[in-house]
Amino acid sequence: MHRLEGKVAIVTGSASGIGAETIQLMAREGAKVVVADFNLPGAQDIAERIIAAGGEATSVFVDSTQEESVKEMIGHAVSTYGKLDILHNNAGGSKPIDVDVSNMTKEAWDFAMNLNLTSVMWGCKHGVLAMRENGGGSIINTASVSGLLGDHSYTAYGVAKAGVVNLTRYVATQEGKRNIRCNAIAPGLIITPASEAVYTEEIKAQFEKNNALSRLGSPKDIAQAAVFLGSDESLYMTGHILQLDGGSTVHQPNLS
Ligand SMILES: NC(=O)c1ccc[n+]([C@@H]2O[C@H](COP(=O)([O-])OP(=O)(O)OC[C@H]3O[C@@H](n4cnc5c(N)ncnc54)[C@H](O)[C@@H]3O)[C@@H](O)[C@H]2O)c1
Repeated sequence: MHRLEGKVAIVTGSASGIGAETIQLMAREGAKVVVADFNLPGAQDIAERIIAAGGEATSVFVDSTQEESVKEMIGHAVSTYGKLDILHNNAGGSKPIDVDVSNMTKEAWDFAMNLNLTSVMWGCKHGVLAMRENGGGSIINTASVSGLLGDHSYTAYGVAKAGVVNLTRYVATQEGKRNIRCNAIAPGLIITPASEAVYTEEIKAQFEKNNALSRLGSPKDIAQAAVFLGSDESLYMTGHILQLDGGSTVHQPNLS
């Protein structure tokens, strides 16, 4: 408890799944939090839950693909709580129109790039500008193991997440001397509303079998890492890609 005492945090896409779990854990750890999402009623609901549990929270609409909206979200945090210490650029996702390269369309490509990469870039830009005023801070970007490996489908999503991986290193390089850290989390399959909508029980069982550990991931697995990256416990860590995938990517194909 209180690992984030005195800090102000924003998590984008925090009305659902990984983001909702993360923002609530950050609040329980003492941060004043901004629940930011495209789904404003959902964000308001999470903020109310945090306040009912004794935390400090506000909610704001954000379309993370739009620069002006991201700027307003950060302005909301600064005008409400006076500063920004932690920004978790978590909003992202995919659509079944994102298939293999031979069937790729501009619509599918642009959708995935905007939602998963351009959005994180706008977050980094305006997060950095606010954190410079504050003498430093911690930016956390949500990548994916899909950005580290190949797959049969969701090509644009995976390429966008690969972009997030290297954007993280660029921001870490450019802002480190200003005491702004930037790290990424690359989750494997995590059970959330988004993954439940895409993966059948059969595919989930396949993922579970391929994990070195004996279960699939939960939003809490990611939230705990995000709290660590936002806290002073990770002060010497920047430009790092934290792979949280139950060991699905660490082994040869003969796992039994
Ligand atoms: N669940 C997984 O297995 C998994 C694995 C690897 C990476 N990820 C990544 O983790 C992040 C969170 O995923 P999740 O599974 O919790 O998803 P989710 O769909 O449960 O939650 C995503 C949230 O983002 C919001 N959102 C969507 N578009 C937005 C926009 N333009 N602006 C602001 N908010 C927007 C949605 O309203 C929703 O509340 C995503 O970046 C996703 O790519 C998830």
